[in-house]
Order: sequence, then structure tokens, then C-alpha cells
Amino acid sequence: MLNRRKFIERSAAAGMLSLLPSVLKSNTLSGKVPVKKQLPVIISTWKHGIPANAEAMKTLQSGGKVLDAVEKGVMVVEADPENHSVGIGGLPDRDGHVTLDASIMAPDGNAGSVCFLENIVHPVSVARLVMEKTPHVILAGEGALQFAVESGFKEQNLLTPGAEKAWKEWLEKSHYDPVTNWENEPNKYHDTIGLLAVNENGELAGACTTSGLAFKLHGRVGDSPIIGAGLFVDNEVGGATATGMGELVMKTLGSFLVVELMRNGRTPQQACEEAVMRIVKKDPENKRRQVGYIAVSKNGETGAFSLQPGFNYALHQGGENILIDSKSHY
Ligand code: GLY
Repeated sequence: MLNRRKFIERSAAAGMLSLLPSVLKSNTLSGKVPVKKQLPVIISTWKHGIPANAEAMKTLQSGGKVLDAVEKGVMVVEADPENHSVGIGGLPDRDGHVTLDASIMAPDGNAGSVCFLENIVHPVSVARLVMEKTPHVILAGEGALQFAVESGFKEQNLLTPGAEKAWKEWLEKSHYDPVTNWENEPNKYHDTIGLLAVNENGELAGACTTSGLAFKLHGRVGDSPIIGAGLFVDNEVGGATATGMGELVMKTLGSFLVVELMRNGRTPQQACEEAVMRIVKKDPENKRRQVGYIAVSKNGETGAFSLQPGFNYALHQGGENILIDSKSHY
């Protein structure tokens, strides 16, 4: 949970910031982000990242591999029926189907994902099996479900009474316009959990899982299962993952862009900012949509940046697991 002392310290720091000249308060000023490089480190999107980080860190501390840590971390959120953006309890598409997207990447550069998958609580674990047991990277829809069932996963109805009620309320107007920062409304989260981990040996892995945009068109797939868009990990450099409106992330291949910028010398913070600015420059939708990136370098330095205010992320490092408000462009 949110560390109260840290929260108070941050609030005090924010208060002092308001006294600074406006040039120093620029949202795109990256020099003010504290640089910590302690390993191991776990970083993940939104406040549902706090319990996910805790589980991932527990896995590392009990001798688990970094790949096990990222999978087990996001599984906590997939299994939570009160979370309406990931796994069971996810809000359905406009036809009432809960369809899930997930991806995972290992330190050796291997990757697996599933998209448009129904009736399976843990799509991230199916993605891991796609990576480990098949010559493919992505399985979709019916084929992904068939593979999951043949691999021993049990089918389950993912549409909870709460999600069904929200869908029926939406059907009354059937007006589709994704809302920015639903994520921070209790029980109304859209969006992805993306989680990155670096263990104490500097090995990196990442995972990303979501039910995608609520009330989307049936068949829509977001950025989360697209390797390089919603997630990218390169064990030589670092990792990045995205949240928010997947269409904007896919059109700029955002997570790959962040990692490549880090490869070329940017800090994780600078790389996240530059990837967001690419969207600002290229996509007229950027003014009314949210996209957030988090990133970590191989040595444990982290960064985050979003289009709109309101994005937050969970950082577990140096014995603390805290929620941090991201800087934003707007
Ligand atoms: N970022 C998740 C999605 O757009 O589906």
C-alpha cells in the first residue's frame, strides 16, 4: 500500500515546487526526477501495480526467476474481480464479450502473447506458454483459446455481475468515446497493468495484460499483446511498457521506441518523454487521450511520462513499494 511517510514527503515537495519559477515547473523537465539505481527493482502501471509489485518482489526474494516474478505479479491483478480493466471482471466489448490481451518477454529476448482471448482468467500465463512451447509469438481468439484449453487451462465466464451492470448501463446510450483517466475512478479502471522487473543480477523481464478498452468494437485488439508497442524488453538495455489508448501506442511502436532511445543514450525518463512527444507530434488525437509509459534500465534507473496528468505508477525499490504521480506533457 501507499507508504504514508513517502506520500507526505512527496506532497511537501510538491508544495515547495509551486514556489519555483514556472520555467522550473515545466512538465517536460526531466532533470528533477530522482535517480535511483538499486537492484532488484519492480515498476508497474497504476495503483493496481502496488500488490502486483509486492507479489513480484516476493517471487524474486524466494529465489524465483525474473520471468516468474513478472508473470506472478500481473496474475494478482488478473485474478481480482473488482478490477475492471484486467482479467476476470474486465469490462466487456460492446457486444458483452470480455476479450483479453496479454504479452510477456524474457531476458533472452523471447516473447509470447495472446489477443482477443475469452474465458481464461490468466492470459499472461497462456502468453508464456505460447513463448515457451510453440514456434510462434502471437495466438489470437479461438485459436488462442483452443491452445489454452489443450494446455490445461479451465474456461470460466469472465463477465462478473458488476461488469455486466456497467455494460448494460452503457448500452442505454451506446455512445463510444474512451474516457481519459477512468483508471483513477474506484472500480472503473481502464487500463493495462504493465510490469517490468530487473533482478539483482541485472536480468530483465516484462509482462503486460488487459481487457482493453471498455465497450470497444468486437474484435478490437490493443497495444498490450503487440511486442514493441505495449511491451518491449532488451536485456542489454532495459524495458518499457505502455498504458492508455493503445491505438496511439501502436502507431508509434512506443515501447520499442523507448528502449531504442535508451540504447542510444537517453535515460529512462528522457526516453519516456521523447516517446510521448512523438505521439504529440504525430497524432491529432493526443489532446483528448491518455498514454503513459514506464521504463527501467538494466542498472535499475526508472522513468515515466504521460500525455495527460493523472497517470501514476508503482515502484518497488530499496525496500519501499510506493505509488508515484507521473509527470505529463499537458
Ligand atoms: N492499452 C490497452 C489498450 O489500449 O487496450
